[in-house]
Amino acid sequence: MQIIKKIDGLRSIVREWRRAGLTIGLVPTMGYLHEGHKSLIERAVRENDKVVVSDFVNPTQFAPNEDFESYPRDIDADARLCEGAGASLIFNPEPDEMYDNALTFVDMRKLTEVLCGKTRPIHFSGVCTVVSKLFNIVTPDRAYFGQKDAQQLCVIRKMVKDLNFGIEIVGCPIIRESDGLAKSSRNTYLNPSERQAALCLSRSLEIGKRLLADGEKNIGVIIAAIAAEIEKEPLAKIDYVEIADWNTLEPLETARAPLLCAIAVYIGKTRLIDNFIVE
Ligand code: PAF
Repeated sequence: MQIIKKIDGLRSIVREWRRAGLTIGLVPTMGYLHEGHKSLIERAVRENDKVVVSDFVNPTQFAPNEDFESYPRDIDADARLCEGAGASLIFNPEPDEMYDNALTFVDMRKLTEVLCGKTRPIHFSGVCTVVSKLFNIVTPDRAYFGQKDAQQLCVIRKMVKDLNFGIEIVGCPIIRESDGLAKSSRNTYLNPSERQAALCLSRSLEIGKRLLADGEKNIGVIIAAIAAEIEKEPLAKIDYVEIADWNTLEPLETARAPLLCAIAVYIGKTRLIDNFIVE
């Protein structure tokens, strides 16, 4: 698997692909790849001639008190996974290559101020900035994002529309462990009892889904039922349980599609997110 570290090197490869009339898919990641990333890469491989996987732990989306330093990294394992999934190359720049005393950042209002944006106020500015840079460097036809980071997917779709990137954003389903836990690079932080406790996220969402399927319309009732299930777990502390319009992320009082039911829960010190969408 070819690992490209420099922007200029990647640009010249992309130029060759473009000259040959090939289509390009981009899968932006922060590495430590798992089955969830693999499913994005495999879909990108099916839908494009060439696929770039970016593997970059982006410093600008972490606040000083967050886990930038300890975020897990394993480029050799990532290269094996990318090779197996059929990617064309990995873009793995150093932070200095991506940010050379940068003074320009991409900020979005409203969509970034709710849900995870309340606890992580600078996060989406970092995400929008690095994803814009990756779009400019790779110039993909399509870019692939997991629904596990549902707010991120919503924010990126809006950014692409607002800034006329002309790139198709493909949202891909959440991939779960066999017991229901959504796959995440941060699951590696969990010790065995926390790993067991983390099942309260998917379990509580199933309760919410069932209430909606049974015709419950009162959002307050659904949120209370989800929260009650999480609160049964002594190692869990709720950051938020919210149900919002899936396009605007504005909170709903009465259930109606399209809606996003999203939760963020601390299991010990690890903050995990999960969600479901009713289209
Ligand atoms: O979802 C992620 O892994 C990151 O937020 C992304 C989109 C790669 C930007 O750093």
